[in-house]
Amino acid sequence: MKKLTSEEIRKLWDEFWQDPDRNHTYLKYASLVPDSQDKTVLFTTAGMQQLVPYLVGKPHPQGKRLYNTQKSLRTGDIDEVGDERHLTFFEMLGNWSLGDYFKKESLTWSIRFLNEYIGVPMEKIGVTIFAGDESLGIGEDTEARKILNEIGIPDQRIKAIGMEDNFRGPAGEIGPCGPCAEIHIDRGEEWGPNDWDMGENDRFLEVWNNVFMEFYKNEDGTFSKLSQQNVDTGMGLERLAMILQGQQTVFECDLFEFIMLAIQDLVDKKYPPFEKHENDFSDKENNTTKHFRIIADHIRTAVFMIGDGVIASNEGRGYVLRRLIRRLYYSVISLDENAKLDDFVKNLVDQINKKYGTYYIEISNNTESIVSSILNEISQFQKTINNGRQKLNEIMKNSSKEIEGKNIFLLYDTYGFPVELTKEIATDNGLAVDLCGFEKEMEKARERSREGTKDVFKRGIDWAKYLHGIPATKFVGYDTLETQDSSVLKDFEVDGQRVVVLDKTPFYAESGGQTSDTGSLILDDGEELKVVGVENYAGVYLHFVNN
Ligand code: ALA
Repeated sequence: MKKLTSEEIRKLWDEFWQDPDRNHTYLKYASLVPDSQDKTVLFTTAGMQQLVPYLVGKPHPQGKRLYNTQKSLRTGDIDEVGDERHLTFFEMLGNWSLGDYFKKESLTWSIRFLNEYIGVPMEKIGVTIFAGDESLGIGEDTEARKILNEIGIPDQRIKAIGMEDNFRGPAGEIGPCGPCAEIHIDRGEEWGPNDWDMGENDRFLEVWNNVFMEFYKNEDGTFSKLSQQNVDTGMGLERLAMILQGQQTVFECDLFEFIMLAIQDLVDKKYPPFEKHENDFSDKENNTTKHFRIIADHIRTAVFMIGDGVIASNEGRGYVLRRLIRRLYYSVISLDENAKLDDFVKNLVDQINKKYGTYYIEISNNTESIVSSILNEISQFQKTINNGRQKLNEIMKNSSKEIEGKNIFLLYDTYGFPVELTKEIATDNGLAVDLCGFEKEMEKARERSREGTKDVFKRGIDWAKYLHGIPATKFVGYDTLETQDSSVLKDFEVDGQRVVVLDKTPFYAESGGQTSDTGSLILDDGEELKVVGVENYAGVYLHFVNN
């Protein structure tokens, strides 16, 4: 295998597909935020997403043979990041046939790229193919097997697997899909026995998925045959770089090494695998390794997300970004309590920009706002969690094995301390968390707040007494569901219920009833209040809130 840098891989990728023998056209990568018409997914998770209309028959303006490198984001396993395998953001090398070539060319070219361009010896390549499934009415993919045999991959290195792994479903619930062939590379005997077991193992790693898209999954779960046969492939750049560079995990390949080195300088600690502790997961090393990886992954992802216009918030994409930044922050202070956050973030964003900015101008054009968005979010979060952190320390001192649900709830409800963070810190300290117990407490609280709100509404309070001199509230909810610049005119308590009045509000109030908007109110000092009901009293909107 050639020891190639990621830049060299990118160059070879372009050369290979642009070669007149294959004649593919470069397709501009899509934003991580999918087209507003694509309601099936929150983020771009693969290169084929922007091609869905063309996979089902619409002619593509750039032709039938395309390739690119697609920035992709998969958020299902955020909590797993820190181990040896999981990443949120990654780049996917992909090529497509839109009703043009099919299995023979696709498999032949994939293997040629690996063998001739990247230098992977043929005897180190194995492939899994589709074993067939009754629901689709098709049997084992003998066509793929025959093609592979002809290219020089014998049956010993081919394994047939069913729907669970070798059928690629659509990106969301519905859409084009099909059986696939997954190409694996043998990393050598130090990684395990020579059994060509291409399941979850460290020796035979999947690098490249060739999906033969000829089906469409319908809303009712059935499959129809598409009018054309397509190819959709994807190969993770980080994983390929890791294998070619002979590294143990993706976090040591050149797409991460520079970030790890920068973190080392900033926190004055070493990334354990660079010190040849490898993945020695004996407690202290384990935590240090984990936090380096979380920082590296999450900051890279945050940079790309913000570059594509995502803003931290309490829902959807914004919430994913918020979680990443919060976890990133916790990892930084875990490595160095006194880390200078401004320098830390600025420096890492600069480094990431140096590495990626020439390929992704949405990063080089926005570095300043990326830095300030991350720092703003961190400083808001710091305000929220300081008190909670002390309380959590006390709770941990008094917990032997597990943090009880009612304490997780107390931290969440009274201190605004996120549950994920409680979990993370507890795990670092060898404690479990009772999340079921927490859910039960949440349900009880919801019930209490429904009841409590009802009471205040019902009780015929003389609001005029509290609202003397307060002007009518401007209702802006027809234009927007969120405002950034409302001012608090009054913040008071009646019979144990906190009430907030704003100069303008997007919350709809139902006079005299309980069915009004609910949501959240974030005060200038970062305190977050839950709005559980809104009532209109003589034009003044009363927001009933719980902290
Ligand atoms: N879209 C295919 C994948 O994500 C290539 O594996």
